[in-house]
Amino acid sequence: MCGIVGYIGNKQAADIIIEGLEKLEYRGYDSAGVAVISQDTLKVTKKQGRLKVLADFLEEEPIEGTIGIGHTRWATHGAPSDENSHPHTSMSGDIAVVHNGIIENYMQLRQWLIEEGYTFTSETDTEVIAHLIDHHYKGGLMAAVQKTLRQLEGSYALAITSIKHPDILIAARKDSPLIVGIGEGENFIASDIPAILNRTRKVYLIEDKEIAILEKDTISIFDEYGVTVQKDVFEVDWDVESAEKGGYKHFMIKEILEEPKALRDTLSPRLKDGKVDLDIDIDEELIKNVRRIIIVACGTAYHAGIVGKYAIEKTLGIPVEVDIASEYRYRDPVVSSRDIFIVISQSGETADTLAALRMAKRKGAKIIAITNVVGSSVSREADSVMYTWAGPEIAVASTKAHTTQLLSVYLLMIKMGVVRGDIDDALQKQMVDALGKIPEQAQEIIENEETIKMMAHRHYSIHDAYFLGRNLDFAVAQEGSLKLKEISYIHSEAFAAGELKHGPIALIEEGTLVIVIASQSSLYEKTASNIKEVKARGAHVMAICSESADMVMTLADEHIAVPVTMDIFMPILTVIPTQLLAYYCSVERGIDVDKPRNLAKSVTVE
Ligand code: M6R
Repeated sequence: MCGIVGYIGNKQAADIIIEGLEKLEYRGYDSAGVAVISQDTLKVTKKQGRLKVLADFLEEEPIEGTIGIGHTRWATHGAPSDENSHPHTSMSGDIAVVHNGIIENYMQLRQWLIEEGYTFTSETDTEVIAHLIDHHYKGGLMAAVQKTLRQLEGSYALAITSIKHPDILIAARKDSPLIVGIGEGENFIASDIPAILNRTRKVYLIEDKEIAILEKDTISIFDEYGVTVQKDVFEVDWDVESAEKGGYKHFMIKEILEEPKALRDTLSPRLKDGKVDLDIDIDEELIKNVRRIIIVACGTAYHAGIVGKYAIEKTLGIPVEVDIASEYRYRDPVVSSRDIFIVISQSGETADTLAALRMAKRKGAKIIAITNVVGSSVSREADSVMYTWAGPEIAVASTKAHTTQLLSVYLLMIKMGVVRGDIDDALQKQMVDALGKIPEQAQEIIENEETIKMMAHRHYSIHDAYFLGRNLDFAVAQEGSLKLKEISYIHSEAFAAGELKHGPIALIEEGTLVIVIASQSSLYEKTASNIKEVKARGAHVMAICSESADMVMTLADEHIAVPVTMDIFMPILTVIPTQLLAYYCSVERGIDVDKPRNLAKSVTVE
């Protein structure tokens, strides 16, 4: 995720900015840059790659000056490159901007600015901000920024500097975190507290739509109408390590709690006027004539593929094959140019997934990648890319990347269904309305975290757990089981509930924990029968079910009910309690949650 640091004072700004950006390196980034007011010019240096590349360059060619802004970029719009790195400047080079977030209407603004005579040097959404400020500038920087912000849709945390105002910095935010650090004879801007914790523990927490003007001795904060806001000083009492995690004990729980935002960020740029509007390029003729869809992935991403299979086959009637990448690549599969081949990968670097992609491409299939990392190998080699805007995922256990993968699969399904005529306007509207509510429904589940924590407390010391489900619930059962075993080391398996009697039921004995996923309304009765079967053999049943599954809730020994959405979308919601359960079991067992034994975040070897 991108990081911002700004400095105004008497010290060398570049040194303080680099020091602050180093503290944000753990969040992931692919390029970095600074803009410093140096005598009469605004000097900008930006480099693709590690922060060290920028720092080494600045050692060789220092920029002297005591006011500046800096950024680490985690690519969203436009691949990682020097040009796409921040800061972005106005054409005259007078104004420089760093930005975290996504400007959803940047395409329209960009087009309009081009018509007004502006030229662009990057593919980013951010560059429009620098040109807009320039466009509105009539001698007052604050007024130009205010006018610009009114034109922006989406999220932003901004730090802005201008050579024409060499004694101020401006900061502004909406839906993206930003703080102002209070020093003595110096002040700071940062996207996150750790960036400035070495310099000050006193901060102002900037709220949505507020704008701050920093001078070296004063800080003034205004609301969106320009009215002064009086703020309390927030004293930071955390250490740097816990501050990096935003005060959370582990990245995993931080990332689970970020799911509503990640879902909103993935969804909102793709919905226009109640319709799905994907920012990806797929040949409509191929969609209309597609013979088969093949989805290939590993681990948690593979489970998103299973959900995709059930949802696409049910809604579009196109045959879908899902395969584990390491199996697929070694089985000499049949693929042709009439197949759409979807790879799903959070990192975009998983060796087996990449090898499967290359194999299918050689055989003539069109490749669509769903990935979280812009500029990753998978994104570069696919024909079309759909990004999950989950932000960097640091914990080994994939959580927010998974729910945004599911959402991306659904959006792709709707897009294909509309092109093919399998989804009419009414159904599209119903689906878009349902998906629009998912982020707040995810938030509701997360607010029930304490209940799940208590459940984990009751069960964390077990040796074995079994997950059951049918259809889409079986996909979630598999993901829940993987999550539990990888971070709590509890032996766990997932079974298709109907398969129980064909063998697995022999494992059930007095007290065995069976976690039943029940969200598919047409299958409640069948699932209820399975609950009776295992309970009759002594199992303790925990149900993760829809609020409408009365029968299941009555039979289970304990349950977590999640809000109701369309059946095909239920996996996004039911998977969240499985993540929380795994997390709290891991915590209770004293395991290194974020770095479980033997596992790596990105599996770049076969
Ligand atoms: O980066 P990818 O999505 O390609 O990674 C795939 C798997 O390695 C990954 O999902 C793994 O299973 C996680 N540890 C699951 O939490």
